Amino acid sequence: MSTHSPGSDGRSFLFVLGSARSDGNTEILARAAAERLPAGTGQRWVDLSRLPLPDFQDGRHETGDWPLVANERTLREATLAATDIVLVSPLYWYTVSAQTKRYLDYWSGWLTEPGSDFKERMAGRTLWGVTVMADRDEAVADGLLTTLGFSAAYLRMRFGGVLFGNGSRPGQIRDDERAAESARTFFARETPLARFPYEKEVAGRR
Ligand SMILES: Cc1cc2nc3c(=O)[nH]c(=O)nc-3n(C[C@H](O)[C@H](O)[C@H](O)COP(=O)(O)O)c2cc1C
Repeated sequence: MSTHSPGSDGRSFLFVLGSARSDGNTEILARAAAERLPAGTGQRWVDLSRLPLPDFQDGRHETGDWPLVANERTLREATLAATDIVLVSPLYWYTVSAQTKRYLDYWSGWLTEPGSDFKERMAGRTLWGVTVMADRDEAVADGLLTTLGFSAAYLRMRFGGVLFGNGSRPGQIRDDERAAESARTFFARETPLARFPYEKEVAGRR
């Protein structure tokens, strides 16, 4: 895990790598986008394969102690220290990887820990996604896009959207010129507050 220092501009990005292989296409694309972040923006990279979490145990409605499992504390602290969280997940079965999904499942635990202020602290921060897939049609990644957008809406976060790339074998993302072009400006995008569809409908009627 790389070291972390908050940026002089007050922003710090946490990149959460969720591939089942190291140096994969998704990480390559995320690093290309991160190169364009302002020099004063902090960056921290964590690899879920190096900080593995066991399957999430749902103790949300149980009383008693809530011991944090190994690596959980590190990931929780890194998450809460970031202004911007970037889920860097390959497309697996049309959604996020199991590693990424498990990390999100732990958010449910952190939300409901006794005395938790996780939801209040996450509100207003920004969620982003980076994904690479074998398919050339981004429409097949709608499941991943929805998972991230609705997760951001649930936590009252901003959502920067998903940077898409195409590739299958390691390094193939380097052939995707459109993704490289998108990576250059990805983190300069607008980051509106995430909303569920029914919230947008209500707002539209006013
Ligand atoms: C378990 C698994 C599931 C996959 N599912 C999909 C999929 O649903 N759609 C797709 O286009 N590619 C799928 N792929 C291909 C990967 O998205 C592709 O190889 C990608 O480049 C892997 O990213 P990485 O190099 O960062 O690990 C899958 C690969 C694996 C290993």
